[in-house]
Amino acid sequence: MFVLPKGVRHIPGHLDRDEQKSLLDDIRAVVSEAPLYRPEMPRTGKPLSVRMTNCGDLGWLTDKTGYRYQDCHPVTGKPWPAIPSRLLALWEELSGHSAPPQACLINFYDTSARMGLHQDRDESDLSAPVLSISLGDACLFRIGGTARGQPTKSFRLESGDIVILGGEGRLAFHGVDKIYPTTSTLLKDGGRINLTLRRVTA
Ligand code: SIN
Ligand code: FE2
Repeated sequence: MFVLPKGVRHIPGHLDRDEQKSLLDDIRAVVSEAPLYRPEMPRTGKPLSVRMTNCGDLGWLTDKTGYRYQDCHPVTGKPWPAIPSRLLALWEELSGHSAPPQACLINFYDTSARMGLHQDRDESDLSAPVLSISLGDACLFRIGGTARGQPTKSFRLESGDIVILGGEGRLAFHGVDKIYPTTSTLLKDGGRINLTLRRVTA
């Protein structure tokens, strides 16, 4: 039997097609103000395969200097756009946390992009969960324990699925092994968008 680590929840098909389309429109509006850019690995400056942007009071960044949250876009210098109300409502519905999210990281995966196993641990408030929403092509998502080297398992995330990393699973290692091209018609040119809502400060 397939058992997720404690504190990790997968809600398949939480958003129906119309909700996915509306959310995609919201994200397009964000991206027109805060364009996707190519993040870099700390120290080496090696570009990631995923492109990123953010909305919210804070946005998560990585470049040669390291990982951090900052209140403005690294290329335009402008403040991040506000988190769309649809996402705030999802957070209220599913997070079990009273304070609203401060950051929403927007990842865009083309069909060859992936993301290595990592923890989301740049937040000083770990009492709130990370709420993740998938749109577009399916992916193979990998999840493990809270220490590197513990066993991992992978499962498929489809457009409209939600994953919540909370409680004992808040620091679970996770990553994206691969994108399954042409598995969704939501994005005209294919690829996958992942949104993660986070609290950063207590
Ligand atoms: C992330 O960990 O930032 C993204 C996870 C995903 O794309 O599902
Ligand atoms: Fe992550």
